[in-house]
Amino acid sequence: MNPALTQFGDRMTHLTGVRAIMKDIIETLRSGHGQDFINLSAGNPVILPEVERLWRECTAELLASPEYGEVVCRYGSSQGYQPLIAAVAADFNQRYGLNLTDRNVLITAGSQALYFFAANALGGYTAEGRLKQIVLPLSPDYTGYGGVTLIAEALKAYKPTIDRNETQHRFKYRPDFSQLEVNESTGFVLFSRPCNPTGNVVSDEEVKQITALSNRYNVPVLVDSAYAPPFPALNFTPMTPVFGSNIVHCMSLSKAGLPGERLGIAIGDERIIQVLEAFQTNLCIHSSRYGQAIAARAIRSGALADISTQVIRLYYQAKFTVLETALEAAMPTDLPWYLHRGEGAIFAWLWLDELPITDWELYQSLKQVGVIPVPGSAFFPGLQEDWDHTRQCLRISLTATDEELATAMQRLAQVVERIYCTANVPVKAGM
Ligand SMILES: Cc1ncc(COP(=O)(O)O)c(C=O)c1O
Repeated sequence: MNPALTQFGDRMTHLTGVRAIMKDIIETLRSGHGQDFINLSAGNPVILPEVERLWRECTAELLASPEYGEVVCRYGSSQGYQPLIAAVAADFNQRYGLNLTDRNVLITAGSQALYFFAANALGGYTAEGRLKQIVLPLSPDYTGYGGVTLIAEALKAYKPTIDRNETQHRFKYRPDFSQLEVNESTGFVLFSRPCNPTGNVVSDEEVKQITALSNRYNVPVLVDSAYAPPFPALNFTPMTPVFGSNIVHCMSLSKAGLPGERLGIAIGDERIIQVLEAFQTNLCIHSSRYGQAIAARAIRSGALADISTQVIRLYYQAKFTVLETALEAAMPTDLPWYLHRGEGAIFAWLWLDELPITDWELYQSLKQVGVIPVPGSAFFPGLQEDWDHTRQCLRISLTATDEELATAMQRLAQVVERIYCTANVPVKAGM
């Protein structure tokens, strides 16, 4: 049977961004006929032994405690499991000198769900028919934002400015404040920090500028902190979480080793928290209480924050260095390639300026040599204007082994050199 779909049904059954490409990647891997691919597409974190042990120990404690039945055999509050809410509030109050109460914290079934609640509670059409936009102040950003709103036209992303160092072959995106508009038509502002896919960390000053701009119009700012301190602390450059009356600090425990348990955390003004909570009640009642109970233990003891800075961060930072070193050794210095500064997250982002083919075609050529990155064009959700740059980038996951990363960068360099040479792209003076 082919069911007739509504507008929402149609929208939600289309795969967006990386999810669409993943289908091609899975088919490629399946039909590889023994070819060994180096898969640089993964968004799944590596299972690090210390991290797995932490969750195993927390689970063993929970199993042995009288709390077990209450946790697993009962429904609970949509706001979240009380001991986890209390652990998060106490940790943040102590760490950042805040005055959070339980009312400022919401636990969601993964942070993707949190963005879905916000996108449809605060973005889209008001009762008077006015469109409230979801503003992404710096494109590229997380591909998953493309699928969270039921109203496609609500998403609006802004092109960044680019700081590039031609001799070092490095670059960094910055919000373009000369273009960015936040006003009475804005429902909320959303960006990831550190950023998936680029590893960019929007500076503390830039966050304050965005929130000040938004405050004028009473617009909430959701800072997607899926890679931020205190856990998983996947920042390689110093950064401070910023708090304020209109800021919702949004976290995920996925990159801290619990992607399977679906745990997101929102910290913010209680009136926004209540709106998001009501949405969650209607959608799925609450997140897994088993996951929440083990997370409460790991946060309360301080073990999760410690393991984040001592193990998780160092692991991915070292991977970025391997990739950077391999690219520098293999890429021709006279080609206009630029690696985004590795400031955090679990990905590297490569920009090939004036690339003679599209990112999708480059992805196909790389598959031929057994390397699978993600074409960059999947990471510009909400960008309405055409921009060459969107077809000139690749996301490279840092979840591969050192050897795989080094080999993949050598193969990538050979493919890229051949493509530019065949197209006879003039090399820029001074590069
Ligand atoms: C920036 C960013 N935000 C949100 C998510 C969603 O994470 P989850 O729903 O697992 O918490 C991801 C997942 O990769 C991400 O990279």
